[in-house]
Amino acid sequence: MSVTYDFAGKTAIVTGGSRGIGRAVANGLAQWGADVWIWDADPLPTDETRSRTVDVTRAADIRAALSEIVAEAGRVDILVNNAGYLGSYLSFEAFDPAEWQRIIGVNLIGTFEVTQQILPIMRKAGSGRIVNMGSLAGKEGLPNLAAYSAASAGVIAFTKALSREVCDTEIRVNCVAPGPIDTDLIRRLGNEVVSDMIGASPLKRLGAVEEVAALVLWLCSDASSFNTGAVFDMSGGRARY
Ligand SMILES: NC(=O)c1ccc[n+]([C@@H]2O[C@H](COP(=O)([O-])OP(=O)(O)OC[C@H]3O[C@@H](n4cnc5c(N)ncnc54)[C@H](O)[C@@H]3O)[C@@H](O)[C@H]2O)c1
Repeated sequence: MSVTYDFAGKTAIVTGGSRGIGRAVANGLAQWGADVWIWDADPLPTDETRSRTVDVTRAADIRAALSEIVAEAGRVDILVNNAGYLGSYLSFEAFDPAEWQRIIGVNLIGTFEVTQQILPIMRKAGSGRIVNMGSLAGKEGLPNLAAYSAASAGVIAFTKALSREVCDTEIRVNCVAPGPIDTDLIRRLGNEVVSDMIGASPLKRLGAVEEVAALVLWLCSDASSFNTGAVFDMSGGRARY
């Protein structure tokens, strides 16, 4: 059965949308009619979407990019907080504090920065969809990824807290928590670590970006109306709770 969506007339922002999961999400939203803006620290040109250089840790970047959208569309219907940085795969004792600052900065504080600027626009409209990209690491706590795990757990808790703050509106805030997905982010860890991750997966493979995008698209659609503050696994059966 093929699934179709109608995002015509919707304006969407996908952070970190130039590569990997974000790119698949941005392409999917555009395919079904959304006007998609990619905010990425290192943008790549695309045909279907518009890209702007935005570092999600920099409030001034966000403000400038948002003012362009407000001037043109006057609305933001969909926000996918996807920009992420995995950082080093190292024991916590060996971790450089500058590295954990960056990990928390991009994955957690970046989600705060972008959401806080966009939320008033959604609140004024009385509706919207926010999808935050967490990780299985945030639920399980993965060794050698302590800061990333903590940042991701923060994204999960933020999703739950924020969803309750906007329950008096049609704004829905949810989180997706992928296990290892086949992107540059995971491939940078090297073949040995990736093989171990595949070995730990009940489905014995990495996920595909299109599989994550399919879930995100549904969460961004009107079909998902009774879910808010929820965390959706995308882990090939690995997540246990
Ligand atoms: N790939 C996985 O296995 C996996 C698993 C769990 C969660 N995730 C999460 O999914 C999201 C996407 O991951 P991916 O695998 O597609 O990664 P990726 O490395 O392929 O792409 C990440 C994108 O984010 C951008 N980015 C990085 N820092 C940024 C910043 N400060 N501001 C704006 N953009 C920035 C990069 O330029 C890149 O285009 C991340 O939040 C990641 O933590 C990924």
